[in-house]
Amino acid sequence: MKDKKRCVSSSHVRYAVKNDLPDVVRVHRIAFKGFFLDRMGSRFLRAYYEAILEYNAAIFLVHIDESDRLDGFAVGFRDPEKFYDHFRRRRFRLLPIIALSLLRRPTLLGEIARNTERVAATGKGAASVVELSSIATSRLGTGIGSLLLQAFCDRSRTVGAREVTLTTDRDDNAPVLNFYLRHGFARRGTEVRGARVLQVMGRDLAIDD
Ligand SMILES: CC(C)(COP(=O)(O)OP(=O)(O)OC[C@H]1O[C@@H](n2cnc3c(N)ncnc32)[C@H](O)[C@@H]1OP(=O)(O)O)[C@@H](O)C(=O)NCCC(=O)NCCS
Repeated sequence: MKDKKRCVSSSHVRYAVKNDLPDVVRVHRIAFKGFFLDRMGSRFLRAYYEAILEYNAAIFLVHIDESDRLDGFAVGFRDPEKFYDHFRRRRFRLLPIIALSLLRRPTLLGEIARNTERVAATGKGAASVVELSSIATSRLGTGIGSLLLQAFCDRSRTVGAREVTLTTDRDDNAPVLNFYLRHGFARRGTEVRGARVLQVMGRDLAIDD
């Protein structure tokens, strides 16, 4: 593990640009294989991450390895309600992509309906809170996730946030839960989404590292 972790020393974290999106989608599909967004397919994922990139209150960071290859990202935003409004405004671009995903996998219908409902019901988030919506690396356990999470929290603090929140699976997910706990996150409650129980976690940015 130590040797693996050493290889992030000549790497760096920077803001994402549009040209990074195909690599972000590639890493997402490796890290979240079989999850809902992965099953929606690359075109939907690309449209989703492009929407975040073009949202002005987003924090979208990528990790570049020593060979100049993107191998991780962390993405989130302030004001989730405003983000989902921004996302809904792109529906004319998104609908044909969603229809294609459904044609390929009709069983996605229930999940799409549930997610659409959830997005419509998203309440006003406090302006002082940043939601980490996704963090992933294609090289697990090499320290990239830690670098990205720290950079994400630093950036959130810089834009005036007091807290970073996230949700992750509560059950059968001990390595990820421990990863967040080790980085100063605490359990805040749970949320039920279909058959999944999600752990809500938050990190108070006023507390020094
Ligand atoms: C969660 C994730 C971003 C952590 O990044 P990482 O670079 O693997 O983590 P680091 O190397 O910085 O830290 C390793 C720690 O992360 C935890 N961890 C979480 N998932 C892990 C995995 N699949 N393999 C190894 N370590 C994992 C371990 O607790 C490990 O602790 P240790 O250093 O004491 O052994 C990464 O594992 C990942 O992309 N997982 C798949 C996608 C995912 O589940 N994202 C979170 C969604 S909420």
